[in-house]
Amino acid sequence: MFKINEDYLKLQGSYLFSMIGKKVAAYQKENPDKSIIRLGIGDVTQPLAPVIIEALHRAVDEMGSADTFHGYAPDLGYEFLRNAIADNDYKARGCDISADEVFVSDGAKCDSGNIQEIFAKDNKIAVCDPVYPVYIDTNVMAGRTGTFNKETETWSDVIYMPCTGENDFKPELPKKQPDLIYLCFPNNPTGGTITKDELQEWVDYANKVGAVIIYDAAYEAYITESNVPHTIYECDGARTCAIELRSFSKNAGFTGLRLGAAIVPKDLKSGDVSLHSLWARRHGTKYNGAPYIVQKAGEAVYSEAGKAQLKEQVAYYMNNATTIYNGLKDAGFEVSGGINAPYIWLKTPGNLSSWEFFDLLLSKAGVVGTPGSGFGPSGEGYFRLTAFGTHENTVKAIAKIRENI
Ligand SMILES: Cc1ncc(COP(=O)(O)O)c(C=O)c1O
Repeated sequence: MFKINEDYLKLQGSYLFSMIGKKVAAYQKENPDKSIIRLGIGDVTQPLAPVIIEALHRAVDEMGSADTFHGYAPDLGYEFLRNAIADNDYKARGCDISADEVFVSDGAKCDSGNIQEIFAKDNKIAVCDPVYPVYIDTNVMAGRTGTFNKETETWSDVIYMPCTGENDFKPELPKKQPDLIYLCFPNNPTGGTITKDELQEWVDYANKVGAVIIYDAAYEAYITESNVPHTIYECDGARTCAIELRSFSKNAGFTGLRLGAAIVPKDLKSGDVSLHSLWARRHGTKYNGAPYIVQKAGEAVYSEAGKAQLKEQVAYYMNNATTIYNGLKDAGFEVSGGINAPYIWLKTPGNLSSWEFFDLLLSKAGVVGTPGSGFGPSGEGYFRLTAFGTHENTVKAIAKIRENI
């Protein structure tokens, strides 16, 4: 008789987005004539940039001819893309990362979920609270998180690093010693970030205690301030303690195309064993590569035209972020994020819970956002709005909130 992986039964239901869906559906049923503006989900709305579409078309044509057809991709990704990532995202910033330390993947969600596989089950993880839920749930599946306490909404074997208004949404070094530290800057959901000097403290700490930092840089393209690092490898010593995850979803609109990369430096070791070789083994065994046409599209991201077109796309979303940030701030809301990230994190007014504010916003303004409590206990009393909508809808939503809340 087969048995299932019982760790899956410990997973908490995907309460957040299913609950949002149910509430929005119920509201629409009761108010069929009212329109709704969705600033909840972190998906992009702008079409792929022309340079990317052109690269896709060219690659599709290549696939139709025997002499330019491509079958299985090389295990770790095509050289042309690995070189483009190493040159543009790292060497151009003075960071010592080579193309053979780049592992091309189909996105940061998979990488952030899969990377824990190469670590022992009794490793202790530390996460920011609130947090992108994938980091925790994939460790739950792996049996690494202990038991869930419904009262505190925390796992017994997870070290939580609260990020609230009190610490400017910046995690403090944990009091208990972790083995794996998940950091994501610019952050989803708070939109907060840390300076290069602050990140250096984390790198020094990880090297001191022998921990690995899993650094999720999915929102790197949204950084506007000069003291915010674009990659953890800007910090001295990061090659011996950090894995970085990159995504093409938010900088280039690849949410539906799928492309990412994990950077595993060869200096990152446990005794004599390099994590690079473990991840290469894992990647080669379980993954057959992002499609050639998508990797060609990824290469186009780094062309001069690609850089110019995507700068405009990011600026479009950041203009939305500014519209939300300033519009709500002027109306008296306590807002953060939105300066180096496409997320605006606001304190719910009048001490409303995150869900109470969700209901109020939906019923009074017809705007859908995401309750902060869905990202962890320290998100209670906060609310996330995203800048990924159209500009027209963003302007409308803020006007409605200002009129009605
Ligand atoms: C912090 C963070 N990491 C990773 C992802 C997923 O990235 P990808 O689309 O590359 O899988 C998201 C998506 O919202 C995210 O917020």
